[in-house]
Amino acid sequence: ERANGSVINPRELLGSDLTVLTETIRRLLGSGHPVLTTISNYYFHAGGKHVRPLIVLLISKATTSPSAPPPTDVDTALSAATSSVDFSPASASVPAASDILATQRRLAEITEMIHTASLLHDDVIDLAETRRAQPSANEEFGNKMAVLAGDFLLARASVALARLQNTEVVELLATVISDLVEGEFMQLRNSALATAPPATAWLHRAATAATTSPSDALAAKFDYYMQKTYLKTASLIAKSARAAAVLGGASPEIADAAYAYGRNVGLAFQLVDDLLDFTTTADEFGKPVNADLSLGLATAPVLYAAETHPELVPLIERNFSAEGDVQTARTLVLDSDGLQRTRLLAESYCVLAVDSISSWPASPAKTALANLTDAVLTRKK
Ligand code: FPP
Ligand code: MG
Ligand code: MG
Repeated sequence: ERANGSVINPRELLGSDLTVLTETIRRLLGSGHPVLTTISNYYFHAGGKHVRPLIVLLISKATTSPSAPPPTDVDTALSAATSSVDFSPASASVPAASDILATQRRLAEITEMIHTASLLHDDVIDLAETRRAQPSANEEFGNKMAVLAGDFLLARASVALARLQNTEVVELLATVISDLVEGEFMQLRNSALATAPPATAWLHRAATAATTSPSDALAAKFDYYMQKTYLKTASLIAKSARAAAVLGGASPEIADAAYAYGRNVGLAFQLVDDLLDFTTTADEFGKPVNADLSLGLATAPVLYAAETHPELVPLIERNFSAEGDVQTARTLVLDSDGLQRTRLLAESYCVLAVDSISSWPASPAKTALANLTDAVLTRKK
């Protein structure tokens, strides 16, 4: 059943697990250079939502089979290593008896580190001045140091990943990193920030103009947008959900279901993000709003709006680069059913997410995973 009205709140179920997460990440990010340490830790001090680790921990709780391997003592194994990375045991506040394995906790931390690395780079690419209601890292420390801090985070995440000693999980998360880059690249090639058009762009345009109707062209743009959305957002959530199940010794069917849950929630999450870009305020969002059109990006609300307002198509094609385009597009979107249809699409992915895990035995963690889909739809930041 849908968990609406149920008292199980995903965050409350995991309360202390999430507090410990940030502390542990801080230990994983010690470096010989105090400024590097400061910048790498910068976004972790600013109240992130921890959606990705939350999902990893809930999937872990919901799927770990009783016959799973005993918790690997990751910390002991890690502190015995010769590297300078401080992986010493976490503070005594970690609950001793838990249904979440040490490797799954570490995976949750790795997931948040990879996500944060991508934000450091993304804010440079997007010229963002704020993130989580404070100046962005690039604004505060400059582009060069923000990029290097992102690289550092990624490197430390990779060390932690290697030490899980599970090649399937290493492959999943390594693929996430290339998916993030591909997703960001797909977006960049389509945005106002992309510089030179590909040499064959005219050929592509000529070919498509001759063979495709306007509605086919919009459908193709929507497909491209959803593929990009999977790569830049859903892949991390889907593959880390699968990795959590794998670490817990789950069956292939359960690992597939975890992946499907993550993929569907991830797509819904980004659709809502693209919706909020139109509907919320910068104060509430903690990051710039009305940013996508200015960046030249046509997200779901605009692509839907263009179906009923075809005059949007040329603006989309030129990435809203002409004087007044951004305002015109915004007005047309608000005058269309684009926002409503985007919300409906996000809702349908949430339904699919809940369906994906419907055969799992009832548990508080399963209910929390269902409730999390409601939180994704109602979030304001
Ligand atoms: C935020 O999107 C950005 C991402 C979800 C992914 C960014 C990926 C890269 C920069 C590739 C490099 C990856 C790594 C791991 C170093 P957004 O700009 O739409 O959202 P925002 O409003 O939060 O900025
Ligand atoms: Mg951005
Ligand atoms: Mg971006």
